[in-house]
Order: sequence, then structure tokens, then C-alpha cells
Amino acid sequence: METTSIHHDNRRVRPRRGACRRAVAGVAGLAALSLAACGGGSGGSADSDEAVDYPDQEITFVVPFSAGGPTDTVTRLIAEPMSKELGQQIVVQNVEGAGGTVAAGQVATAESDGYTVLIHHIGMSTAPALYPDLPYKPLEDFKPVGLITDVPMTIVARKDFEPETLEDLIAYVKENADSVTLANAGIGAASQLCGLLIEQAVGVDLTEVPYDGTGPALTDLVGGQVDFMCDQTTNTASQIQAEKIKGYAVTTPEPVEALPDLPTTAEAGLPDVEVGVWHGLYVPADTPDAVVEKLTEALAVALEDQNVIDKMADLGTAPVPPEDVTPEAHTSKLEEQIDLWTPIIEDAGVTGT
Ligand code: MLT
Repeated sequence: METTSIHHDNRRVRPRRGACRRAVAGVAGLAALSLAACGGGSGGSADSDEAVDYPDQEITFVVPFSAGGPTDTVTRLIAEPMSKELGQQIVVQNVEGAGGTVAAGQVATAESDGYTVLIHHIGMSTAPALYPDLPYKPLEDFKPVGLITDVPMTIVARKDFEPETLEDLIAYVKENADSVTLANAGIGAASQLCGLLIEQAVGVDLTEVPYDGTGPALTDLVGGQVDFMCDQTTNTASQIQAEKIKGYAVTTPEPVEALPDLPTTAEAGLPDVEVGVWHGLYVPADTPDAVVEKLTEALAVALEDQNVIDKMADLGTAPVPPEDVTPEAHTSKLEEQIDLWTPIIEDAGVTGT
């Protein structure tokens, strides 16, 4: 079964409106839909009959960053087995902007029928502290479906960047803080959070170069247009292995099997830079529990798929344990992470717009 198709452009997801869902004839129709174009319809959430039939049409997975980047990669890995399990096509839609908050804001107000699903990562827990006017509340406007994976980050640089080790990098950025460039995927992205931790630990304020995702940021790193960045192994592992970029360290307490030559940040001199990029699926808050249950079950099946396990291992990560593939575990993680990151971000005084 053909499961995914790519949408590179920014487009709105379907608004909350009962009649709209039935009007969608195909992928192209998504871009054209608007409240006005959808006409009448009673609106509101899907009723229990719909939950019994669910899913009876294609499902859209909204990715808050660029196609080809780490979030997109994880999405496409799970979309295929989930599609098989649910018996419906899954369309992957990239809605970029404002460090992932544009997509989350759109899904928060999308129709709550289980046909619009957000994949998001640690950024769901950092956004409330970063954006004073965030148009959604992570704990109130969504139902978590389940956790997916917790991806290590790497500190990486263009191949010809002078520092050879993390220790060299620390000394170099202290000496050259005015000229060094640090790429990220915007305020709210995992790369921005990790970069912030590095700046705090080293005591520098670098020139940040924001992208719509670390997919394009990595392309520029390989091309030598920016100096260094923090990014997930799901994006960097193959480029480090191919020696197209320089890898300094992994941001996890334990080394990463796919990158055996990289020390941990604790081993290499930045013990405060420890961060794992946990991912989960979300639906709008009014989505019926029976629909959420079907998505959770399909996610659990996908994460036991040997192909998914093997591909994640190649990319330096793994599915979360089965007990974390539940709305309850996901909600606890989100609460705990909001509590963890809020004071750190407030102390740093970083804000998005
Ligand atoms: C992406 O998919 O581009 C990343 O997850 C961006 C980030 O959070 O650094």
C-alpha cells in the first residue's frame, strides 16, 4: 500500500468543521479547504458512531518541520506500518514555521475526528516558556496518543571547521564568539534548545542561523555555509559516518551504538548539555477516546515492526518501551518535561514571536 506523499509547501490543516472531512476527495483537496469553502455542517467532534467506523478515509500526519529532516524521517518510518494496521492511507504534511508552533497551533483547532494527527517532539514542552502568546495549550488542547522514540542529539560541524574535538570547540567558540555561526530550526526546535544549553554552558552568545527544519540546516552544514549545530542522530548519523560533517559528541548519558567514535557530552567536557528528543503523536483535545485508542494500538504495532526497529537502530535511536506507548505515559512525560524546561528557558530569557 502506498502510504505517504510529501507536501513541501506550508499549508493549513483542515479546520474544525464536521462537513469538511467528508468533502476531502484527495490530497490536493487539503490545500483548498477553508471554513468558507466547506459550507455548512454541524461542526464539533466526531460522535461515537464515527469512532466505531474509524478510520474510513485517509489520515493526515502533520509534521511541524521540513521534509527530509529528523521529525519527518521518524514520521515516515511509523506511517507505513500504522497505515497497514489501520487499513487506510496516511498522508504526511509538512507545516513549517516558528519552531514547530505553527503546525501545533493548526492541529489544536483542527477537526477532532482522528483524521488530523500531529507528530511533535520535545518542542511541545518548551514552547509555552518560549512563546508568551502561544496560541495553544499543550496539556489542554491535545490528547496525547503515545510516545514514539527518544532520539539522541549530536554536536556536529562543517567538515573543515577548525576544532577537532569538543574540548577544542569549547575553546574555539570562546575565542571566536563574534564570528561563529550556530544553525538551528528556529525558537522552539530541539536544535535551538540544545544550542542554548551549549551557549549557557560555555558562556557565549553566538550568531544563530534559523531554518525551517534541520533538514535544510544540515544541507548547509555539509555545504560549509554554517559552522556547527546540534541535531538529532536521525538526521546526522549517516553524514557523520560518511565523514561529510564532523561529529564531536552525543548528548546522551550513554554512547550511541551507531556512532561508537563519539564521546558523550559528559565525557567530553559539557556535562550540562544532556538532552534527548522524545517524540509523540497528538490529536485535538475533543477527539473521542475510542479513536485515540485505535491510533495508540496502531502506533504500538508499528513500534514492534522489525523494519522500524532496524532502521531506527541505524539512525542511532530505538522505539520507546511498550509501556510508554500509551496516552497516560505520554501525558506524564509532557507534564514532567514542561516542569523541567520552563525554569531553564525563563532563566535564559529567550523568547520567540
Ligand atoms: C526537524 O525535524 O527539522 C527537527 O526536529 C528540528 C529541530 O527540532 O531541531
